[in-house]
Amino acid sequence: MKAAIMGYGTIGSGVAEVLDTNHDSIAKRAGEEIEVKYVLDLRDFPGDPIQEKIVHEYQVIAQDPEVQIVVETMGGVEPAYTFVKAMLEAGKHVTTSNKALVAEKGAELIALAREKNVNFLFEASVGGGIPIIRPLNCCLTADEIEEITGILNGTTNYMLTRMSEDGLDFDDVLKEAQDKGYAEKDPTADVEGYDACRKIAILTSLVCGQQVDFNDIHTEGITKITAADFKYAKAMGRTIKLLATSRRVGDSYCAMVAPCLLASDHPLYPVSDVFNAIFVHGNVLGDAMFYGSGAGKLPTASAVVADMVDIAKHIHTNILLEWSSRKVDLVDYRNADNRFFVRTSSSEADVKAVFGDVERIEAEGVDGEFGFVTDSMTEAEYEEKAAKLSGVLQMIRVK
Ligand code: HSE
Repeated sequence: MKAAIMGYGTIGSGVAEVLDTNHDSIAKRAGEEIEVKYVLDLRDFPGDPIQEKIVHEYQVIAQDPEVQIVVETMGGVEPAYTFVKAMLEAGKHVTTSNKALVAEKGAELIALAREKNVNFLFEASVGGGIPIIRPLNCCLTADEIEEITGILNGTTNYMLTRMSEDGLDFDDVLKEAQDKGYAEKDPTADVEGYDACRKIAILTSLVCGQQVDFNDIHTEGITKITAADFKYAKAMGRTIKLLATSRRVGDSYCAMVAPCLLASDHPLYPVSDVFNAIFVHGNVLGDAMFYGSGAGKLPTASAVVADMVDIAKHIHTNILLEWSSRKVDLVDYRNADNRFFVRTSSSEADVKAVFGDVERIEAEGVDGEFGFVTDSMTEAEYEEKAAKLSGVLQMIRVK
């Protein structure tokens, strides 16, 4: 079976490496050998054995009837969307690791694949090497999924782990993460929560079978988290994690991405470093959790190649994926109930006048401010009350 890889960066070259490393077992599982015939990239790779497969025009792949599987590992919406669409229209199966493409164009590409009786698979787009798309689509089908909460970004999880363990501030830990190659030169998508937002949009679209627009998801990143916040977290026996969460409310979902204070008995509490985990609650299943390598070359390539094997096994069959382009009206996050940890320069008396009796938190080495946890209230109620305090320094939700 002939395949092509579009984009020979970290993940694309990882796909070639995985196909090579596990060549025999992959051939056995796929039912035949999978051979990369073309690699599409703007660059040339002189001296690299891959060079003989390099092409610069995607039409070469689209027009070759021998190619049945196309891997898209370019990233970004364009030109990936144009190229993937052309491949599906030409009757080729596609697998992608590209969450930006899947979050924005997933419904349309799934419908096109169905029309052409081919497959558009995207296991690697969420949670890197952790199986989560296939479990949601093929395994947890007896359930109404009532909650998905994930640590879906390896870079920020690494940074928060370092801040927690070494008492470092955001800027120092970002530099360390960049030096180690975990964070990109422009870390915006990770640290502002945009990457996790696209991933929870994909998962929510899959569980409700409709299009969730990531722009509708309230998203806060980790850029305002400080070493002092972790001192308070320690005093509470908690840690801070960037959570992407989606809860069923009636016929809709309430989704949000934000840093949260987790208690030590929360299943996501021990998920450290670059690891990801996705907690799922189904109405008949109860709880399940998927944990593992959520980013990086080979884990992500492993998920892409697993899709290639699945495609080889379903070469004449479209695997039904329920994700229509009808848009979901998400429930306004301001209606969600939470407890809030707040740091303020206001006096205890002022805080109590607004929030009533609160639980005071004292952190070692943090002076000149008042830290407290509120009772449970809606986001809207919190915002209204907090606006009455002059000196709110920080707010983190408590789970
Ligand atoms: N930047 C992403 C992360 C890569 O850190 O998780 C995987 O999607």
